[in-house]
Amino acid sequence: MLKRIGVLTSGGDSPGMNAAIRAVTRTVLYHNMEAIGIKRGFEGLIEGDLIPLTRSSVGGILLRGGTMLRTARSPRFILQEGIDLGISTLKNNNIDALVVIGGDGSFHGAKKLHTKGIRVVGIPGTIDNDMAGTDVTIGFDTACNTALDCIAKLRDTASSHDRMFIVEVMGRHAGFLALETGVACGAEFVLVPEIIVDIEALCKKIRYAKARGKTHSLVVLAEGVMSASELAIQLKGKCDYEPKIVVLGHLQRGGSPSCADAVLASKLGSFAVESLIEGKNGVMVGSIDGNIVASPLSHAWEHRRSLNSEMLSLLDILSI
Ligand code: F6P
Repeated sequence: MLKRIGVLTSGGDSPGMNAAIRAVTRTVLYHNMEAIGIKRGFEGLIEGDLIPLTRSSVGGILLRGGTMLRTARSPRFILQEGIDLGISTLKNNNIDALVVIGGDGSFHGAKKLHTKGIRVVGIPGTIDNDMAGTDVTIGFDTACNTALDCIAKLRDTASSHDRMFIVEVMGRHAGFLALETGVACGAEFVLVPEIIVDIEALCKKIRYAKARGKTHSLVVLAEGVMSASELAIQLKGKCDYEPKIVVLGHLQRGGSPSCADAVLASKLGSFAVESLIEGKNGVMVGSIDGNIVASPLSHAWEHRRSLNSEMLSLLDILSI
């Protein structure tokens, strides 16, 4: 029987992680178990940096950005020595099971623990939305809204001044954030790592749009393609504009979660604990077609989702 459940956040933070921590904690307490927070992800697990989580210690965090447990990327947890130290922390503190909130890198860590006999469930939290086993990850919706808000402001000034902006968004090796934001803001062009970039064709389109009377041009560029400054160099002198560049960067990781993210995080956090109670182990929880489901942890990286082809053609149709 489970008595103590640990929870940690790992990798890049994402809006809604606090909501997930709260949901995990309160569901654990609801079932008369104890909740233990592990600080700074797997680093804190290695070092035994723990705090008890109570009903009130997770009060007021639901709509706060970042993660109250803090987070880290842990190179030490790749090594066997780090994993063994993490397991010792769990055993020495009588932690029966662990909830890992993070992206696929964090799930690799979770999988290593699972292989060594630790009961573990993962909750997908990353702004990149690049994990299988869920249609959407915690933080993605908020990050898109943050980017959208910034791009709407850029559009105002771009069109007042007849300017072109290249807006670099995050997403690591995936284009989900760029595509979603690009469609939502009506970007003229969206460049994603999943599709080979043809600079000549891009310049032709930009020149054509200008000739047709467009007073600005917005290119949403996924960081996984190249940097905004690199693209500006490649476009120099070829597209009738001197592109200005804006890198949204970590702005996209901050802020209060949107309603969708707060609800998703609450559902997944609670379901993760219920799954452990039911005896599930080595799984991630996710939302597929509106249903909350569990699938093997490795699913997250073994079955990479591709970009939605309907969104890609929608962008093509609407951006002319
Ligand atoms: O995985 C989330 C993410 O924000 C990526 O979009 C980005 O490439 C990366 O993390 C940045 O990581 P860091 O904050 O460690 O620079």
